Amino acid sequence: STGPVFEAEAATLAGGAVVASDHAGYSGSGFVGGYTDANSGSASTTFKVRISGGGAVDLVFRYANGTPTDRTLSLVVDGAHVDQLSFPTTSNWDTWDTVTVARSLPEGDHDITLLYGSADNGNVNLDRLDV
Ligand code: GCU
Repeated sequence: STGPVFEAEAATLAGGAVVASDHAGYSGSGFVGGYTDANSGSASTTFKVRISGGGAVDLVFRYANGTPTDRTLSLVVDGAHVDQLSFPTTSNWDTWDTVTVARSLPEGDHDITLLYGSADNGNVNLDRLDV
């Protein structure tokens, strides 16, 4: 991606999502944690993203999943649940990878949210979104 970078620690956090920096390898000044089971159904990070031109965009989420299994979060765009995203294990909490989601978005401002929804199993740390 050659577009803008949105650091998770600068996004709007709710439901127990918190800025953290207690693992290595993040970009910016930290990452978002708190997607723990205690915050199932509530933890969320919302990026305010301006799309110029509209059309196909790649949403590239950088994350860590130090659990041994795939973990899921819900992708919510402008308040509507659109997808359940799978975040494969990164083996430990200091190793980061990306998940890319292709979406079509009209020109303008959009709220891109990653939510630990009630159908998800969460436990992912979120570093940033590249668009
Ligand atoms: C561990 C890890 C946290 C992470 C959490 C989780 O506690 O240290 O950074 O957020 O697991 O399960 O999400």
